[in-house]
Amino acid sequence: MEKKFKRTLITSALPYANGPVHIGHLAGVYVPADIYARFLRMRGEEVLFIGGSDEHGVPITIKARKEGVTPQDIVDRYHKIIKDSMEGLGISFDIYSRTTSDIHSATASEFFRRLYDNGRFEVQTSLQPYDEEARQFLADRYVVGTCPHCGSDRAYGDQCEACGTSLNATDLINPRSSLTSAPVTMRETTHWYLPLDKWEGKLREWILEGHKEWKTNVYGQCKSWLDLGLQPRAVSRDLDWGVPVPVEGAEGKVLYVWFDAPIGYISNTKELLPDSWEKWWKDPESRVINFIGKDNIVFHCIVFPAMLMAYGDNFQLPDNVPANEFLNLEGDKISTSRNWAVWLHEYLADFPGKQDVLRYVLTANAPETKDNDFTWADFQARNNNELVAVLGNFVNRAMMLTHKYFEGKVPERGELAETDIAAFREINAAADRLTSALETFHFREGLKEAMEIARIGNRYLQETEPWKVSKTDMDRTATILNIAMQICANIAVAFKPFLPFTADKLALMIGLGEQTWDQLGSDNIIPAGQQLAKPELLFEKIDDATIQAQLDRLARIKEENKIKNFKAAPQAPDVDFDTFMKADIRVGTVLECRKVPKADKLLQFLIDDGLEKRTIVSGIAKYYAPEDLVGKQVCFIANLPVRKLRGIESQGMILSAENADGSLVVIGPTAPVVPGAQVK
Ligand code: MF3
Ligand code: ZN
Repeated sequence: MEKKFKRTLITSALPYANGPVHIGHLAGVYVPADIYARFLRMRGEEVLFIGGSDEHGVPITIKARKEGVTPQDIVDRYHKIIKDSMEGLGISFDIYSRTTSDIHSATASEFFRRLYDNGRFEVQTSLQPYDEEARQFLADRYVVGTCPHCGSDRAYGDQCEACGTSLNATDLINPRSSLTSAPVTMRETTHWYLPLDKWEGKLREWILEGHKEWKTNVYGQCKSWLDLGLQPRAVSRDLDWGVPVPVEGAEGKVLYVWFDAPIGYISNTKELLPDSWEKWWKDPESRVINFIGKDNIVFHCIVFPAMLMAYGDNFQLPDNVPANEFLNLEGDKISTSRNWAVWLHEYLADFPGKQDVLRYVLTANAPETKDNDFTWADFQARNNNELVAVLGNFVNRAMMLTHKYFEGKVPERGELAETDIAAFREINAAADRLTSALETFHFREGLKEAMEIARIGNRYLQETEPWKVSKTDMDRTATILNIAMQICANIAVAFKPFLPFTADKLALMIGLGEQTWDQLGSDNIIPAGQQLAKPELLFEKIDDATIQAQLDRLARIKEENKIKNFKAAPQAPDVDFDTFMKADIRVGTVLECRKVPKADKLLQFLIDDGLEKRTIVSGIAKYYAPEDLVGKQVCFIANLPVRKLRGIESQGMILSAENADGSLVVIGPTAPVVPGAQVK
């Protein structure tokens, strides 16, 4: 059944260089792709792992404009952050390049030109939003207006962020340009379209018949796109940032970012291997695997394959596209624009030396079949209860005991007992399950099986009790600790794709040279007599304060977002002057203030109102300590009907303003006035 391939080209989606990478990117794409690449390399397979930044597209131009810099400045900044941080996490790309490289524009340009010359495009004229003042066409994102669904007047031409509806610029009420605020008009423009409808039959057959083994989320999404019927798609845009359309008369037009970006996989391969790149793409014995997130499925399974088919020249279609779902953060969707993320470069700075903890947690929680949630509590628990208590603990015990009884030399072993053989039977079973999990892109499962080997190790020591046996039988103790060391070696192999830093540290400690996958399951990896290094802890506990600092950071971001997104309520309908003047608003001085028992919102005030003393109950207990208000002056409405709150008669209402986060601030005069002064 299994086709045999000579070599595997692994690609991972090129992240947009309009922000750093975050844990969602990592869990969805880069960590699984890296595990797979490392696994194949350990098996001695020929592998290439391609990455790079996606540096075109409208959001980058918007960010540049906002900051008053050029798009190139933006991508230079983020390309560096992304590249460095990926390297910091041990993502083992063979190349990490970028789509603003010369080789990429040349490759993408040539690709377009060949399709153009071979008549693979349709030309269509359509009406597009145009800014008369700036004299340019506007990408949908640059058009703002009122959402036809929820009435928000900040909707973009592609989406309303208030209600989440995706839109066309023409759906907006009162569309305006976000460049100049000028009203948007519609103008005719001509673009090149890839007629996906013409490739529909081939795509159906290739995916629906030929790739039933793809993950169900991927196969299902492809099927529903194909069942809806494919339409021609524009592959050019009116924009001044991107690869220019290489056709006469196409001034001011660039390739659509989703046309050039996937070609980036090819350009980056070319950049790395100028003389031998073709065999990776065109030899039928090569296979291509695209690691992506679920929002990229249509482009990798439908659009790019159609482009490759249209190009011809034996380009291989992907053999598999193991797309993941999304990772959320503390229950909310990760968002670059809302800064709701754990950024990789910040993690690396905050948790130096703990790359593998993040790799572990993101793999154990990978959104392989459904969206998943990252929480700091889970991060801490997995570190403390799994990495420290299971994996680190086993290795440390085995190392310490060998040092204690055999001066840190792997002891000679005698005949194996049934327990020893049983332990290795179990390890082999786990190793087999681990291998097939990795072969089929089930990385969470795979990690569980690797962890199972450490658990087997702990159980083995628990059962054999070398610390007791050593009192009577040193030969048996030697055998037990020899076996324990072989289990350590298995761990250094099994975890290497997942936790490369830890696996290498362990390998160094036990004197294991390069780990290879065929060692896995063997009960004789390290020779007797091998000198072990000094034991060092592989993991350390993460304390509550460290976790709390991260939670505090997220809480701060939430508050900042509330303030950023605050929108003043629309003005209330007019009120006539005489009616307004009937309200008797005055200033009073707070004489006493206390909490209302059993009402967590209410404070009870005694106010000097200039005439006498009056009681007012106000719902601001969450925002003030009562003693802080005593002596302060507040504004209140004096002539409201008396209201009973919790049995207390409230004679008026204290005025307060509601902040973006819903908190209340009491309103008072900016300088002392006499109690009873009227507010006019
Ligand atoms: N930049 C895109 C994203 O982040 C992914 C591009 S993948 C490629 O969603 F195939 F186009 F390179
Ligand atoms: Zn809306």
